[in-house]
Amino acid sequence: MKITASITYYYFFCFLLVILLISAKAFAEEGNGNAEQPAEVKKSDFPDGFLFGVSTSSYQIEGAILDDDKSLSNWDVFVRKRGSVNNGDTADIAADHYHRYLEDIEIIHSLGVDAYRFSISWARILPRGKLGDVNPAGIMFYNKIIDNLLIRGIKPFVTIHHYDFPQELLDRYGGWLSPFMQDDYAHFAETCFKYFGDRVRYWITMNEANLLSELAYEKGIYPPGRCSPPFGNCSAGNSDIEPLIAMHNMLLAHSKAVKLYREQFQHKQGGMMGVAVSAMMYEPLSDDELDKEAANRALAFSLAWGLDPLVYGDYPPEMRRYHGKELPTFTSEEKQLLSNSTDFIGLNHYATVYAKDCIYSNCMCSNSTCLPGENRAIKGFVSTITERDGVPIGEPTGMFQTFIVPRGIKEIVDYAKKRYPDKPVFIVENGYCPPWEHGEVDDLRHDTKRVEYHKAYIASLAQAIRDGADVRGYFIWTLMDAFEWSSGYDLKFGLYSLDRVTLNRIPRLSAKWYRDFLRKTSLKDLESRSAIPAINQDGLVPNVKDGSAEMA
Ligand code: FCB
Repeated sequence: MKITASITYYYFFCFLLVILLISAKAFAEEGNGNAEQPAEVKKSDFPDGFLFGVSTSSYQIEGAILDDDKSLSNWDVFVRKRGSVNNGDTADIAADHYHRYLEDIEIIHSLGVDAYRFSISWARILPRGKLGDVNPAGIMFYNKIIDNLLIRGIKPFVTIHHYDFPQELLDRYGGWLSPFMQDDYAHFAETCFKYFGDRVRYWITMNEANLLSELAYEKGIYPPGRCSPPFGNCSAGNSDIEPLIAMHNMLLAHSKAVKLYREQFQHKQGGMMGVAVSAMMYEPLSDDELDKEAANRALAFSLAWGLDPLVYGDYPPEMRRYHGKELPTFTSEEKQLLSNSTDFIGLNHYATVYAKDCIYSNCMCSNSTCLPGENRAIKGFVSTITERDGVPIGEPTGMFQTFIVPRGIKEIVDYAKKRYPDKPVFIVENGYCPPWEHGEVDDLRHDTKRVEYHKAYIASLAQAIRDGADVRGYFIWTLMDAFEWSSGYDLKFGLYSLDRVTLNRIPRLSAKWYRDFLRKTSLKDLESRSAIPAINQDGLVPNVKDGSAEMA
C-alpha cells in the first residue's frame, strides 16, 4: 500500500516538474516580448570568428607631431588657422599615444578584444610623400604596435589613410583635387604592404572618402577648407563640383593600391583589402512615394557613391541620372580596375535621419537643425531632417544630426546586403558621445548611456546577422577620448576618458561593460590569447614603463 502511494507521489511530482519547466520557458519567451530579440545581447549571439574590437586613428591620438623626423600633416597646419577647430584645440599632444602606445596596448588587451583598428600617419613614414625617403623611425613605431598586438593575440586591423597626409602634398598638388595624389597614395600603400604586410591580415585603404569629400570640399570644415555658398563661406572652392573630383581621385587611388596588393603581396601575405565608408541611414520622412525615393536617393548619393564604383566599376545610376557632366567619368580601363576592388565593406555607422524630397517639394533650410544646399544635385535633392511631427528620431547625442536609433545599424547592413550581396561587412566604427548638458562628472565615470547605446546597437546587429547578413566584425569608436577633428576635444567618444592635464586614461563604466561582455562567453577565444593583465580597483591596468613587453 505504502509502496503504491510512494509511486503515485513520485509520478505526481514528475508531472508537476514538467508543467513547471514548460511554464518557465513560456514565461521567459513572453518576457522577451519577442523571442527573436534577446533582452541582453551576448557575445555568443555572434558567429565563430566574429571580431570585436576598438578603433582609433593616428592623428586623433598620437601627438608627437614633429618627433623623429615626422613632417607636418595637412591637419597640423589646418588646426592653426583661426576658427578651424573648437576652442583653438590642436592635436600636437592629443593622447600622446606615440609615447604611451605600450600602456594603450595593455589597455586594449585588458578589454579582451579580438582586433584593434588603427591608422598609419602618412607624414610619419613618408614625410615627403613619394618624393622623399621612407622614415625608419616611423616604420619602427608601427612595427612595435603591430608586434605588441600580435604577442597579445590581438589582430591588427590597419587603415592606411585616415584623413591625414603630408602637408607637402597639399602644397605641391592641391591634395585630393589632383590626380597626382593617386600615385602618391599608391606609393604610400605599397610602403605599408612592404614593411607591415607580413603581419597584417586586414587592410582598409581609406577612411570615409565619401564623408571627407563632403567635409573638406563641400562644407569646408576639414582641410583644405574649400567651399562655396550656400554650403559655407570659404575663401575658395566650389561645393557643387569639387567633392565629386576629390572622391574620383580617392576611388582611383584605392583601386591602384588594391591592384598592387593583389599582384605583388596578397598571395604571400594572404590579407583582405577593404574600405571604410561613412554609412548614415536614411528613412523616408513620410509614407509618400516621393520621400521613399528621396531616402533611396540619399543612400545612393552617400553610401553607394563610395561603394558602387568599387564593386560594379561605376558611379550609382541614381547619381548619373541627377548629375550633369560635373560627375566625372571612368575610362573603360579604370572601370576594370575599380570593379570588384574590395574584398570587404567597412561601415562607419553613427546616424539615422529622415529624408524629405526636394525635387517636387519646396525645401528651403531656414533653421539651425537643417543643412543648406538640400535643393542641389550634390545633395541628391534631399533634405535630411531629424524629427517627424515634432518628435525627434531618437535620443540626442553630442553630434549634429546624430540621435540614438539602434534599428539604423540593421537597416544599413540590410541595405548593403541587398546592394552588394557578395561582400562581407565589418562595422569598423560605431560609438556614442554625450550631449554637452550631461556634464563632466557623469560623463567621466558613469556613462550608462554609452553602455545602453552599445547594447542596443549590438543587439540590432545580431538581428541583422540572424536575418542572413554576412557581418564579420564590430569595432567601437573609440578606445579613449581623442581629438575629434573640427570639434577638438569637445566630443568624447572614449571607453576611457582622458585627463587632459595628466593624460591618464580613466576607464569609464562602458570599458568595464565591454570587457565583461567580451569575457562572459569567450573562454574558448581567450585560450588562444595570453593572460589578460590584472586590473586594480580603479579598473586600471598596471603601467608598462620599461617596454618589457616589446618584441626583441
Ligand atoms: C568618423 C571618423 C572618426 C571619428 C568619428 C567620430 O566620421 O571616421 O575619425 O572622428 O567620426
